[in-house]
Amino acid sequence: MPDLPSVKLPPAVIALLLQLAALTLAAATLYSTGLALSPLAFATLCGVIAATLSHFAGLARWWLLIQLLFAPALVLMLAANIPPEFFLAAFLAMLAVYWSTYRSQVPLYLSSKKVWQALESQLPPEVAGRSFSFMDIGSGLGGVLLHLAAIRQDGRYYGVETAPLPWLASWLRIRLGGYRNCTVAWGSMWDCDLARFDVVFAYLSPVPMEQLWHKVRREMRPGTLFISNTFAVPEHPPQHMLTLDDLHRSTLYIWRL
Ligand SMILES: C[S@@+](CC[C@H](N)C(=O)[O-])C[C@H]1O[C@@H](n2cnc3c(N)ncnc32)[C@H](O)[C@@H]1O
Repeated sequence: MPDLPSVKLPPAVIALLLQLAALTLAAATLYSTGLALSPLAFATLCGVIAATLSHFAGLARWWLLIQLLFAPALVLMLAANIPPEFFLAAFLAMLAVYWSTYRSQVPLYLSSKKVWQALESQLPPEVAGRSFSFMDIGSGLGGVLLHLAAIRQDGRYYGVETAPLPWLASWLRIRLGGYRNCTVAWGSMWDCDLARFDVVFAYLSPVPMEQLWHKVRREMRPGTLFISNTFAVPEHPPQHMLTLDDLHRSTLYIWRL
């Protein structure tokens, strides 16, 4: 029999489908037993079923709590009579900051100052009349780029960021700070050619690492450096690892191509 193509849905979509399944199961239970429940009790039943289904569907642990609380929180919020504009504004703000995180599974969180400082030691040595290029893929608010651009002015610093608000914030920081050796583009790292850079830095999540590794191997030039903060590449150990004494005990994984 021919292999069927496997479709991998993002966890957020699976979670939503399981909420709908839980709602159907809870409604069917009430209908068949003739039981009458208050809206909050019904929502709690939905939450328990959704969390149970999510456990068996293999969703990560934090999803179980979200699934458990989602329907009861909805009922409580509706009872609080909050103006709908509030939810629209909150949704738009979250969208601007997190954008396609539901699909990419790479949210915004920032490298520590100790990571910025450790990156200084990984930059190519200073050579008079020569510059190097550094790329932060998923550059967030631009903290890594601005720090390095101020410390090592012989470099050219690039960032690419997919979420509009972080991109705008980093663009403004660069413009207002007068950093002439720094640029951030609004776009996806998957559309960015890594062959142009001497050092590529990533602080993403476990999800894209394998695919990113293939891109790095395909595009980066021999002798250039790929550095990942915190997230290793499965089955491809780095040549160097630096563990830092910041809050998260961040580890930098360093590969010389
Ligand atoms: C964990 S943050 C890291 C921010 C920054 N590099 C730092 O170290 O402080 C990851 C960022 O990658 C962005 N991102 C996720 N997928 C992306 C993609 N395909 N292309 C560009 N940026 C992406 C997210 O929006 C988020 O801002």
